[in-house]
Amino acid sequence: MKFFALVSIVLVAALGVGATAPDPDSACRCPKNCSHKLGSSCAFFEDGNTIKGACVNGDGGLTCST
Ligand SMILES: *[C@@H]1O[C@H](CO)[C@@H](O)[C@H](O)[C@H]1NC(C)=O
Repeated sequence: MKFFALVSIVLVAALGVGATAPDPDSACRCPKNCSHKLGSSCAFFEDGNTIKGACVNGDGGLTCST
């Protein structure tokens, strides 16, 4: 069981690289998305869905919001 838990963690981590940001903050922020500016389009995962939106000013910096 432990082995499978580990495999799925690695799988989720691998899927998270490149495709869609795992949270609204990293979708718009350094170090991962330094090039994004206010109003840039962005995407992130929430509850298994991909949310698409734009970068807006949030708590402590840019965040992705619909
Ligand atoms: C950078 O932003 C794009 C668009 O929001 C997103 O799909 C991508 O996953 C982000 N990169 C990282 C490493 O979070």
